[in-house]
Amino acid sequence: MTIVILINKGRKALESDWKNRFGEWALVTGASSGLGADFARQLAGKKMNIILVARRVERMNIVAEEIENEYAVQTQVIEQDLIKSDAIPNIINEVGDKELGVLINNAGYGVLGNFHENDYDYQVEMVKLNCVVPVALTHAFIEPMVKRGKGAVIFLASTAAYQAVPFFSVYAATKSFNLFLAEGLWGEYRKKGIAVMGLSPGYTETEFQSHAHIKRTKGPTAAKSEDVVELAIRKLGKTPSVVHGVVNYLGAFSARLIPRATSVKLAGALMKMMRPGL
Ligand SMILES: NC(=O)c1ccc[n+]([C@@H]2O[C@H](COP(=O)([O-])OP(=O)(O)OC[C@H]3O[C@@H](n4cnc5c(N)ncnc54)[C@H](OP(=O)(O)O)[C@@H]3O)[C@@H](O)[C@H]2O)c1
Repeated sequence: MTIVILINKGRKALESDWKNRFGEWALVTGASSGLGADFARQLAGKKMNIILVARRVERMNIVAEEIENEYAVQTQVIEQDLIKSDAIPNIINEVGDKELGVLINNAGYGVLGNFHENDYDYQVEMVKLNCVVPVALTHAFIEPMVKRGKGAVIFLASTAAYQAVPFFSVYAATKSFNLFLAEGLWGEYRKKGIAVMGLSPGYTETEFQSHAHIKRTKGPTAAKSEDVVELAIRKLGKTPSVVHGVVNYLGAFSARLIPRATSVKLAGALMKMMRPGL
């Protein structure tokens, strides 16, 4: 009995010591707002040093100052538009020889509307930001993690990843990509000491909705960004993917049980509620 208690205490202590568990630094893309800013805060709460990446440098400076003061960790702010062609080499250069233990592939956006009416460049850039950038950053930083035998990578998927979503078709496809990428890499790296996980929030209160042209105001199942991040941090290393919220979980998994055409039609009807007039 005493041995079991000691083993559990030891395991919990190891789980809470994220610097030892994964490495000194965490890099969060899209750290200027929403889920990314909360990842920065909560990983700093785990005593990790934080690299914040996004375009709005003033917003990141505020988050960086807040977490330096509150948690006595180091921060680095990288002002970078991730869809620029030199974005990945720039970030690799800025990170330098820091021990990057946690990578949060969070930056992303979606746009609701008729596919042919949505701006072509905006949709192609979305595919780049949501899909190509996570592949490139993970490829750059996972090899040193393998050499150290420890590390973690989180990919932002979505409840939109679990079925096709009319009027949100490109975005949903990018999120399926992230979910499958996360789960595939989980299978590849789980025996190499690296925790990979796909995180699927449902409707979460951030700036995402206004960028996506979602008109519906938040409903009863809308989540707080900090709660979604808290779940991700709690589940990292325990599962290949996680959906936030019971209703979202039931929605995601019921899509497996009903005919594909039915689940696509239901998802389309939900999107019409998000933006009446579609
Ligand atoms: N909120 C939801 O309901 C929800 C649900 C499911 C999944 N998600 C996913 O969660 C992730 C975070 O979104 P959020 O909800 O926190 O939305 P958000 O508040 O709009 O944050 C998006 C972040 O991405 C950054 N970003 C956008 N374009 C960029 C670019 N070209 N280069 C660098 N950074 C860029 C933004 O920073 P700058 O503008 O400063 O560059 C911002 O920090 C996304 O991948 C989204 O798909 C959100």
